[in-house]
This record gives sequence, structure tokens and C-alpha cells, in this order.
Amino acid sequence: KGLFTYDPGFVSTAATESAITYIDGAAGVLLHRGYPIDQLAEKSDYLETCYLLLHGELPDAEQKETFVSTIKNHTMVHEQLSHFFNGFRRDAHPMAVMCGVVGALSAFYHDSLDIHDEHSRMVSAHRLIAKMPTLAAMVYKYSIGQPFMYPRNDLSYAENFLHMMFNTPCEEKKVSPVLAKAMDRIFLLHADHEQNASTSTVRLAGSTGANPFACIASGIAALWGPAHGGANEAVLNMLNEIGDESNIDKFVAKAKDKEDPFRLMGFGHRVYKNFDPRAKVMKQTCDEVLAELGMEDDPLLKIAMKLEKIATEDEYFIKRGLYPNVDFYSGIILKAIGIPTEMFTVIFATGRTPGWIAHWNEMISGNYRIGRPRQLYTGYAKRDYPG
Ligand code: CMC
Repeated sequence: KGLFTYDPGFVSTAATESAITYIDGAAGVLLHRGYPIDQLAEKSDYLETCYLLLHGELPDAEQKETFVSTIKNHTMVHEQLSHFFNGFRRDAHPMAVMCGVVGALSAFYHDSLDIHDEHSRMVSAHRLIAKMPTLAAMVYKYSIGQPFMYPRNDLSYAENFLHMMFNTPCEEKKVSPVLAKAMDRIFLLHADHEQNASTSTVRLAGSTGANPFACIASGIAALWGPAHGGANEAVLNMLNEIGDESNIDKFVAKAKDKEDPFRLMGFGHRVYKNFDPRAKVMKQTCDEVLAELGMEDDPLLKIAMKLEKIATEDEYFIKRGLYPNVDFYSGIILKAIGIPTEMFTVIFATGRTPGWIAHWNEMISGNYRIGRPRQLYTGYAKRDYPG
């Protein structure tokens, strides 16, 4: 059918070599630089995992301290950038605002835009990892009409994020360690996932020589869709729509009906066909958070747990290898922490930033060509303009 291999959805085409993340979908394995995700979730933390993704090795104590303090150095955004928010409606979707303000970082950091200089690339990486939570919290504060909170460098990465989200200049509460740990885990479990749609988008944009802030903005746009990062938000919307345990069977039947486009959100994965190893850790964190908050009897959660049981025992889902994925549980945790549904994908984007930037850096520091997929043309053959 032509000169090119036809592989819609890139199901069997490797677009790159990469030494960052390994996935064995059938065995439910996810390794970052060789380290299993469950071990990182248990023994490491988000910033250490960021270092690992970027540099290829775990940091020693001194390297870790330097990295953490470098990230803290970059947490503030330029005061001028805070004016960008006023251009958005207060009810704008947070991901719409994130696409804009992260892309706008390109206009502020001219000193790190030389993509062929390794030091510049690392400075951009640090800036992005450090500023994403600040921008994410600003998006939220703007949406509810509260003043922006400046980052606090005496707090950990996750504590600082929750501080900027939920504290106000009138009242600064101490962040619960259980919730901070859960937040750190959510970031960590989303940190990288090899050549998913948003990472491939970052690589494709980066292959043109575009600057890293613009590339990450393109990744944010790709992540937004409900088949990718938007799934955690879609899970909560779906649970709300189900509304009552008595409606679950009806929704499961809809998901199985081939005439109906409805899918169970938070179920299935392109690569994991047995289980999602991130979901296992996330489920455990979910139990911890709900116990801490005394929310085991939350009605939405009850629907989620019953849905999980029914779907995982159903022939349709078993046959197709459809299991709850990471977003099924992360959505429930985020809701319990008090994060509004529209912010869920922003949190995914924040967590995924080191993965995007590590892939971008890996590509730019190696041999690469501009990404330029071909097509199988199905339109008209040449024809003459009438008259
Ligand atoms: N509910 C009902 N049926 C489903 C679902 C679902 N959630 N997911 C897949 N199927 C069916 C699909 O209809 C098809 O059936 P059949 O073989 O009879 O035609 C079969 O399972 C295979 O589906 P597919 O669309 O070919 O699978 P894919 O690998 O292209 O899609 C997916 C993967 C994640 C997009 C899909 O499972 C989905 O839409 N899930 C819901 C959205 C979701 O939770 N996404 C988050 C993914 S994890 C976070 C991330 O990494 O971004």
C-alpha cells in the first residue's frame, strides 16, 4: 500500500532509543534507570527520582542536598509572569492556563535557551521542575480569587505545593505529613512513563530545536486529553455521574456496549495489560490518605471500590486486560486531599515534568533528526482546476 510502514497509534513503531525508563506491560514492570517503581515509591522521594531521571544515577547525600537546594532556588516565578493570569477568565480550565503560562516561561529565561549547552539545559530543567508547582498553585488561587502564595523554601517540595494551594496570607496551617507524603508519591508515580503521547510530543517539538519551555507546554497540551492525563479528572466526573451504587451495573453495561462510546475512565492502558504497577502503590496510598482523613465511608469512594470489584471480575474486562490504572486511584486521593477535579491533570503535568525534560535532554544531547512522520495519502489524484 505504498512506501511506508502503516502503524496508526504507533503500536509497533519505536521512534527512539532511550535509557531512561523501561516498561514490560505484560509483566507489569516499570523501571526508572533500572530501579523498580515500587522501590522508588517506598525508599526514595520525588526530587531524588527527578535527579535519577535527569542524571541516570541516584544522587549521593551531597549531590541530593545540592539538587534540592538548587530546585528551591528556582521556585519563584518572575513577578511579571503573575500578570499573565489576569488575562484569563477565572473559570478557565486550569490546563488551558498552564499551557499558556508554562509556554510563557520561554519569554523570561533567555539565559538558558541555548539548547546545545549542557549547563543551560540543566538550568532549564531545574527551573521547570521548581516552577511547575508554583504555577500550578497560582492557577488554582487565581480560579478562586485568592492572592497567590509565595513558595516557602523551608518546606519540602510536596509540603510547599500544598502550602501554596491551601494556605492564605491570613492563615498558614501546618501541612499534614501523611498528605505531604501522599502528594510526593503522586508526583513520583507520575514522574516518567517512556514514550507516552505527551512525552512523544515533547520529543517531537524538541526535535525542531524549540526551546524547553515551549516543548513542555506542548507536552501539557497533549497530556490534557481524557485518554491520557485527563483521565484522573474524567474518573471523578464519571463517579459523580454514576452517583449511586445502584447505577454501577448500568454504567458497566454501557462501557461494554460497542454502540456506545462510553468507557470506564481509569480502566485500561495501552501498555499494561495485566496490571499497572503504579496503581498498586497508589491504591495503598489511597487507603492511607482515607484513613488519615477518616473518609473510608465517603459515598464516592464506595462507588469507586464497588466499581473496581465489579469490573475486575467481569469477563469483558478480564479478556481485554482492562484493570484500574494509576489515575483511578490518584483521582480519589486528590479529591480526598481537597484538590478540585479540574486541577487533577495539572498535578499530573507537574509530576511528569522531570520525565519530559529528561527525554528532551536525552534527545538533544545525542544524535537526533527532526521528527517527521510520513503518511499514506488517500485523497484525490492530481486534477485540474475547473475552467
Ligand atoms: N472501558 C471499556 N472498554 C475499554 C476501555 C475502557 N476503559 N478501554 C479499552 N476498552 C476496550 C476497547 O473498546 C477495545 O475493545 P474491542 O477489542 O472489543 O474493540 C479494547 O478494550 C482495546 O481498547 P483500545 O482502545 O484498542 O486500547 P488502547 O490501548 O488503544 O487504549 C486507553 C488504551 C488507556 C486509551 C483505553 O484503555 C482507555 O480509553 N481507557 C480509559 C481512559 C483512561 O483511563 N486513560 C488513562 C490511561 S493511564 C494514564 C496515562 O498513562 O496517561
